[in-house]
Amino acid sequence: MLEELKQIEQDGLQALEKVQDEAGLEAWRVAFLGRSSPLMQVFSRFGQLSKEERPVIGARANEVKKSLESAFAAKAEEMKQAALKRSLDQEQLDVSLPGRQLPLGRLHPDTQTFRLLYRIFGEMGFQVFRSREVETDEYNFQLLNFQIGHPARDMQDTYFVQAGDRGDNPIVLRTHTSPGQIHAMRWLAAMNPDNPPPVRIILPGMCYRYEQVTTRHETQFNQLEGLAVGPGITFCDLKGTLSNVARRMFGQKTRTRFRASYFPFTEPSAEFDVECFLCGGKGCNVCKGSGWLEIAGCGMVHPVVLRNGGYDPERYSGFAFGMGPQRMTMLQHHIEDIRSFFQNDLRFLEQF
Ligand code: FA5
Repeated sequence: MLEELKQIEQDGLQALEKVQDEAGLEAWRVAFLGRSSPLMQVFSRFGQLSKEERPVIGARANEVKKSLESAFAAKAEEMKQAALKRSLDQEQLDVSLPGRQLPLGRLHPDTQTFRLLYRIFGEMGFQVFRSREVETDEYNFQLLNFQIGHPARDMQDTYFVQAGDRGDNPIVLRTHTSPGQIHAMRWLAAMNPDNPPPVRIILPGMCYRYEQVTTRHETQFNQLEGLAVGPGITFCDLKGTLSNVARRMFGQKTRTRFRASYFPFTEPSAEFDVECFLCGGKGCNVCKGSGWLEIAGCGMVHPVVLRNGGYDPERYSGFAFGMGPQRMTMLQHHIEDIRSFFQNDLRFLEQF
């Protein structure tokens, strides 16, 4: 048996020298140290040995086992080091390569335009007033001087919310931010009904109209309303305010104009245009050859609306305007389709 052990050791060490890779090493381990290896079979035959032979053969068998195990460990380490050296030699690390860019989130273009407008109006003393998106017909239309059956209601096709039979006062999704004018005036007037404080606010928010969706019309869109009420406010204040905003938004040399228009809640009413900054007023396909771009509807607050808000039109006057910030963003960035704002396409959003 001593001879047999000597042979096992010799065979094992020789075979180990020929091992080249990890698979070969594992096969060697199974063959020489595994449960059915010749060495383990020697151990299992111990029962057949005499009392005298057992300690001698046992000691030798353990010696062979240790010798093969340490040869195996040395070989494994040698192969690990060789693999490491190979990878260091072959896979070179270029420490001068720029790091990987982490994708950074950014603000939606709507939010960016709103924040710019808040800053511009904020510097002129306007505060942000938030008003509800779900309204009653009374606030969305009647208190703004749109009588029931008024033809101007057709300009703003309305989404109705089913809420039982409310007769002439159904629940609607607001078609514009103007009902916020009444909420704001009533809220302020309630503080001091005999002497309501002056108003200087902007009202941003989402509006809804049952419209044919086109490149310039969505069924859901943003507006920014403005309202200033106080003793002695004139159309000149409105002109000065909007012209200043246009210059801050589009450049100091921007020319502006006011065109007569009609809204039931303002009198007189106007459309506010800026000179087309894409063609410099010469006429292009964006301004449809006119040289001007429409930015806002505006006017002097109608006496009926002032009264509905709790302000005496004999003592107070005011101006109001409503603009479409998405249309402004489209003009500034040459965006051709308003639907891009809600499509969540990262290729679009990452440009801002
Ligand atoms: C109004 O909604 C008035 N309430 C504005 C106003 C306020 C006038 C205060 C006077 C005093 P108009 O329907 O024109 O007006 O809408 C104003 C702006 O909202 C438009 O110039 C446009 O920029 C935007 N807008 C209107 N409808 C849509 C739509 N379907 N999709 C995208 N933007 C729209």
